Amino acid sequence: MKDNKVQIFDTTLRDGEQVPGCKLDTQQKLEIAARLDTLGVDIIEAGFPVSSPGDFTSVSEIAKLVKNATVCGLTRAVQKDIEVAADALKHAVKPRIHTGIGTSDSHIKYKFNSSRDEVIERAKQAVAYAKNYVDDVEFYAEDAGRTDNAFLAKVCEEVIKSGATVLNIPDTTGYCLPSEYGEKIKYLKDNVRGIENVILSCHCHNDLGLATANSIAGVVNGARQIECTINGIGERAGNTALEEVVMILKQHPYLDLHTNINTQLLYDTSLMVREKMGMPVQPNKAIVGANAFAHSSGIHQDGVIKNRSTYEIINPEEVGVTESAIVLTARSGRAALAYRAKKIGYELTKVQLDKAYQTFLQFADRQKEVIDEDIHVIMKQINKIS
Ligand code: KIV
Ligand code: ZN
Repeated sequence: MKDNKVQIFDTTLRDGEQVPGCKLDTQQKLEIAARLDTLGVDIIEAGFPVSSPGDFTSVSEIAKLVKNATVCGLTRAVQKDIEVAADALKHAVKPRIHTGIGTSDSHIKYKFNSSRDEVIERAKQAVAYAKNYVDDVEFYAEDAGRTDNAFLAKVCEEVIKSGATVLNIPDTTGYCLPSEYGEKIKYLKDNVRGIENVILSCHCHNDLGLATANSIAGVVNGARQIECTINGIGERAGNTALEEVVMILKQHPYLDLHTNINTQLLYDTSLMVREKMGMPVQPNKAIVGANAFAHSSGIHQDGVIKNRSTYEIINPEEVGVTESAIVLTARSGRAALAYRAKKIGYELTKVQLDKAYQTFLQFADRQKEVIDEDIHVIMKQINKIS
């Protein structure tokens, strides 16, 4: 079988929900989990069960509800965490425990006051312990982005021997450049014994705005899972945005990598997460921002009206946006005015359009945007004078 499927691991309900102000109750989490399952994600990280009774309940209810995706619970490399996660996941059709430990020198020294050898020991024990409960055990090497590659390879090799099925290589601090992150994945592919039997996963944070680029570099170099969130929400500057990586892979078929996501549900899912989490999306956000398919300069509008491929690389309908918006401003030309006027029922002759355009410019100079109501007024005015 050709290894060109990229698993989408959604962590909106775990890493995403850690954002201050984004706290959800169980009912809201269940609604999002159901939507993620319909969207076609392969794995839903439902929470961190040991962290609170509320999180335990949410993971447990999601495990009962979800029928298609794997349901995953996070743990530290701590037996109690693993036992609680296993309990929360016991009704899942496809349960996964996601356990791990920091592997960078900074984490080993400052978080654990420990040594590399001890960290390897804890990692092995955690994976082996989780294997008592579930077959599917994902190991995360926290701060892998700043972990020495040779040591990281050693950790990976040991946890594979203990039974890990997926190896998560998080760029926890969003530090790596795409070239570095891609090389890290390639290094592991080339240097870890047994790597062919597991899936390598990219988990990137966006501190330098590189989470999406790093995740793509990861899969181009052999990773086959991307951990991401809807709208890219997550700790600090956020996580890799699901809608971005999915559309990048779709729009670049020569990469020969695909996902299972029903892209037409992306926009609605984005709206749902914004609304439930009370977390707005900036207008210029790729794929799902209000301006992602809006054209306001005259040159662009003219091009898009003639043929949308001139300035649009994605058909908006593919992501569930009904159509591209032609926003009328003082930068718009006659073509854009005629286009919008036609949409609301006015078929203009050249003479009428010339007149309407002069009035339109007066409106546009007074206000940021000329809306449909203004066009009706403009039409009344030009009818008066004609
Ligand atoms: O960013 C990170 O390293 C994480 C791990 C806990 C997977 O979220
Ligand atoms: Zn993270």
